[in-house]
Formats: sequence, C-alpha cells, structure tokens
Amino acid sequence: MKTTPLANRAPETGAFFTRDRNWHPPAFAPGYKSTVFRAPQKPLIAFPNTLSETTGPAFGHDMLGPLDHDLIHNFARAGESAIGERIIVHGKVLDERGKPVPGVLVEVWQANAGGRYRHKKEGYIAPLDPNFGGCGRVITDAEGHYAFRSIRPGPYPWPNGPNDWRPAHIHLSIFGVGFVQRLITQLYFEGDPLIPHCPILNTIADEKAVAQLVAHLDMQNSEPMDSLAYRFDIVVRGRRSTPFENRMEGN
Ligand SMILES: [Fe+2]
Repeated sequence: MKTTPLANRAPETGAFFTRDRNWHPPAFAPGYKSTVFRAPQKPLIAFPNTLSETTGPAFGHDMLGPLDHDLIHNFARAGESAIGERIIVHGKVLDERGKPVPGVLVEVWQANAGGRYRHKKEGYIAPLDPNFGGCGRVITDAEGHYAFRSIRPGPYPWPNGPNDWRPAHIHLSIFGVGFVQRLITQLYFEGDPLIPHCPILNTIADEKAVAQLVAHLDMQNSEPMDSLAYRFDIVVRGRRSTPFENRMEGN
C-alpha cells in the first residue's frame, strides 16, 4: 500500500501545553440549556499524559475520495450541484508555537443553505436540498494548509430559549498528531449579525476567543464568477518548547 510521508510524525519530546480553561467555554453554562444536564457534576481530575494521549492514528492523503473536500458536489447527482452561495474555506492548522501541523484530518459538517441538516432528528421546517449532504473532510498538506468548497450554511432556530437562532456556522473536528490535540469547534462568518445573540458563543468569556472562531472574507482567494473565499486558521495544542538561549556566546 502506498504511504504518504508525514513530517509531523517525527518524534518530538516533552509534554503538551495544558489546556487554558479560561479561554475555552465552561462545561456548565446555563444560558446554553443542554450543558446543565451534561456538564460533569464533580471536579475534574488531572492526570499525566501517556503514550495513549500523545499519539494518534496517522492519516494518508490516499484515503480520501476525490470529492471529499467538495461539499458542493460530493452528494449531488451527476451534473448537478448544491443550492446556495458557493464558498471556499481555507486556512492553516497551527500549534500553539505557530508551527504548521501537516497530516491533520479536518472533518466538517453543516446545515444546507436553508439552515436544515440532513439528519433524522432534524425538526426545522426548511427543506432538504437533494444535492447537498453536508459532510466533508480534508487532510492538511506539508505546510499545514487545508481547503474545502461548500455552500454558505443558513442560520437556524433551535429549542433553547424562547427564540434562539444559531448564526451561520460550520462544525469542524480536527484530529492532530495525538489525542491531546483533538479539537471540536465551529466556524462563523465575518459580519453575521446573529453572532452576538448566540447563546453558545456567549458561553465564551473572552471576546478574543470568540473572534478566533470567525472566518474572514478573503477576496484574494475567491474565484471570480464562482466562489467567495473565507480564511480560517485553527490552533491546536502544541508541545512545550525549550526557551531559546539568546545570550551572545562568551558573555
Ligand atoms: Fe450546527
């Protein structure tokens, strides 16, 4: 079987950064109703990372299908395409030292242009698009870059408060070099007026952390007469680095 060399599989030593729990939203946030039932009832217990946390499965580019990164076409009938505003979403997966992480599996799922998911428990009245499945995946290249094509998802209402709506968003799962780098997150779109009203985004205390979840319009990488582009960089946990010795030799 053909294998793809993945630079990020080179062994690095040292522990990963500890997660900053003030940056990430709390598990218990009553404004986001379902967290009340699923948040841990007891204090968390810290334990040291072992091989099972600092390693993970390796992904080769040859495991992907030709349309896995193209949600406009990967569920569509031959010669047809999904309805909606065509977009390209791209960016880099970086670790906490700003180092690109190659070989990372990025999986995405989203509602269609009307805000409806293809899911048997979906209850929203917006119609399904027969040509849109809503899932895709891509693996970062040697520079940590990923890109996928899709349609911009619609906002949708959800049963939380009396009239709560989700801003347009794309769900992402990032599978880095070890299980400690695993990240499940959501991407939002620059300028969406629903962002400040979202009970889920409002569980995040630091507005800079919210800003990091917003993809920015990227006209330079848009395709004329085809698709707008949005840039979204993703930061996963990196390994601690040894501080660089910058004292001049002989001093
Ligand atoms: Fe969603």
